[in-house]
Parts: sequence; structure tokens; C-alpha cells
Amino acid sequence: MQAAEVKLEKVGKRYGEQWVVRDIDLHIQRGEFFTLLGPSGCGKTTLLRMIAGFVEPDAGLVRLDGQVVNQVPPWRREIGMVFQSYALWPHLTVFENVAFGLRERKVPRAEINQRVTSALEQVELQGTEARRPSQLSGGQQQRVALARTLVIQPRVLLLDEPLSNLDAKLRIEMRLELLKLQRDLGLTTIYVTHDQEEALAMSTQIAVIDRGRVVQQGKPREIYEQPADDFVAAFFGQSNLLPAKIDRVHDESVVVTVDGGMELTLVLSATAKTVAIGDAVMLSVRPEAMELANAGEPLSNARRIQGRIVASAYQGAFVEYEIAALGKSLKARIANPKGKPLYDCGDAIAITFAAADVTLIAPERKN
Ligand SMILES: Nc1ncnc2c1ncn2[C@@H]1O[C@H](COP(=O)(O)OP(=O)(O)OP(=O)(O)O)[C@@H](O)[C@H]1O
Ligand SMILES: [Mg+2]
Repeated sequence: MQAAEVKLEKVGKRYGEQWVVRDIDLHIQRGEFFTLLGPSGCGKTTLLRMIAGFVEPDAGLVRLDGQVVNQVPPWRREIGMVFQSYALWPHLTVFENVAFGLRERKVPRAEINQRVTSALEQVELQGTEARRPSQLSGGQQQRVALARTLVIQPRVLLLDEPLSNLDAKLRIEMRLELLKLQRDLGLTTIYVTHDQEEALAMSTQIAVIDRGRVVQQGKPREIYEQPADDFVAAFFGQSNLLPAKIDRVHDESVVVTVDGGMELTLVLSATAKTVAIGDAVMLSVRPEAMELANAGEPLSNARRIQGRIVASAYQGAFVEYEIAALGKSLKARIANPKGKPLYDCGDAIAITFAAADVTLIAPERKN
């Protein structure tokens, strides 16, 4: 089965008066691993259900390979969905669980045998055909759910937090296996998670959703390094948000002063082109971009932020510090601490960072 592309155009869904998903424009290319990422209740499952056909949009169009499918029932869309709860039949064997969709489609018996066997091989579950789901581990049940979806040879694979029930170690193993399978089969995959690490590790594209809207879409690296606003910055791990003011505006750059006096010249990104002199903005700086120095070192305040260590955690490969500065609690993560000074709780320090590691966040989200 040829992998399909999926397009959502101005898609919305409301329950009663409440729009839970609004104005969603997404283009998911053939073979892509596309992740919908956002906090609980932001509308991720609702979006998947509209693509699968279990929920009908109240606005906009859903297209599969260009064709509008709003009125096409789920079983005609050739889309496979793995639900968060797996939804396996407890009274059926592994074989029958996987064969279920084929029997519904009246596939001949010999072909069912062959396709189920091959789907179970794909997820490395040969030999478990006769067992029931209760006789399998969580990870194995997850694989049965996947095999049951793959066996119908879907044009699009939808995965709703498929790894969230697994323990941390198994989750990472399954993550790699799932990725390999997806790349080998070239399957267009839409993956839902609220785990930002998972999203960064697996996706070719990420759409960050907040309260039913897409707030940013891009490659993992773009989203992590250039968050569009404070919500995205804060959602992707820890980010330090520093209040600052625009001092000067040039064509391609601005000079900002951080509270406390530190001055930086920032190259303007497309998203922040609208700032003006005097604007209050936020600077997002990742913990791993922060550098620490002794407070006594001869640097003027225009080059650093004064702070005090509140907590430190030595982790071997890195040290994590919590720092009180600018009336806030900031995080620094110093990699490869061998040969660098270790600071203790109470130490006065100075924070610096390179302008290239700063993302300027304009005050109002424009959508
Ligand atoms: N059938 C329904 N009737 C009324 N409200 C609903 C219905 N289904 C979902 N909602 C509401 O729509 C919003 C989005 O729900 P959805 O299940 O899409 O969120 P989600 O992003 O998948 O969250 P989670 O990460 O917790 O699974 C929520 O506020 C939810 O309460
Ligand atoms: Mg959900």
C-alpha cells in the first residue's frame, strides 16, 4: 500500500460552545514521522480521531492524497490507529487479535495466515500466536497493537501515545524499534505525545499544540533552538526566560539590555522582526548554554548577570545548578565538568552566555 500524504485545512472541532481544536493547518508529507506535541487536553487525540474518521470536524477539510475525506467512514480511509490503551481483545489470542481487521475485510484464509505471520515477524513476536494479551508483557501487548494495525497495510499510521504505559527502559527500546520499522516501511506516521524528549528523538516534523491551536511547527532542532514563544520554550525542557528591553534596532539586529545591565546584540529572526525600541521582551536561554564564572572576575555588568548558587547536583557527565538571579530561579547545566570549578550552595557567581544561544521572544503571541 502506497503511503499517503495528509492535509488539514482550517480544521476545527467544537463540543457544545467550546472549540477544542481551531484553525488547524497541517501538511504531513508522505513517509514523514510527524509528531503532535502538547500538554494534556490540548486536542491531540481529537486531531488524530478526525484524521482517522472517528470524529467529524465542525470546520475545515481533511485530505488524504488531495481527496477530501470528511464524509468517508474510518474503515474506508485505510488508516491504522494504535490507541493509547492498546484496546486488544482480552478473550482473543494474539493471532486472532492481529487477524481481526482482515477477517472484517473478508480476506481469504490463506492470505490471513500469511499476513498475520509476517506482521508478527515485523514486531518480533513470532511464537506468541496462541497466547492471550494477559499472558504478555506491556511491551509485547504494545507490539500486538502495532502488528494489528500494520497487517491492514495502512496508508497512514496514527499512534496515540503508544509508549506511555511502558517503563523508561522499555520505552527507549520500543522507540528505536518503532522508528526503524517506520523508516523501513516508509509509512506516513502521525505520532501523539506530551513527552518532548520522545518528540525530539523520533520526529521529522513537530507541531506544538496549545489549547487547540498549532503554535509552532518545524524540525526538532528548529523548535528546540528557536522556540516561537514562551510556551514552546518552557514546554521543551527547562528554559531560562530573562526579562529584557530593546535598546536599539538595526536592520538585521537589535541591542537588548537584560534586567541587571547585561547587553547583547542579537541577530533578528523572522519571527521577531516586529520589535521596537523600548519594548519589553523575553530572552530564552537553555541551561546548557549558560556559562558560570566566579563573581570576582573582572567583567563589567554589561557582560554578565550576577547570581548566587541555590542548589547543585553533580551528575558525572554534567553538573546542574539552580541559581538565584534577577529575582528568578535560573538553571545552568555545565557539561563535562572535569577541570572546571564546582560551585557550592551560597557561592556568588556570574552568568554569561553567547548571543548566538539566545532566542528573542516578543511579548505577544500573534495568532
Ligand atoms: N466527546 C467529548 N465531549 C466533550 N469534550 C470533549 C470530548 N472529547 C474531548 N473533549 C475535550 O476536548 C479537549 C481536547 O481533548 P483531547 O482528548 O483531544 O486532548 P489530548 O490533547 O489528547 O489530551 P491528553 O494528553 O490528556 O490525552 C479536552 O478539553 C477534552 O475535555
Ligand atoms: Mg489524548
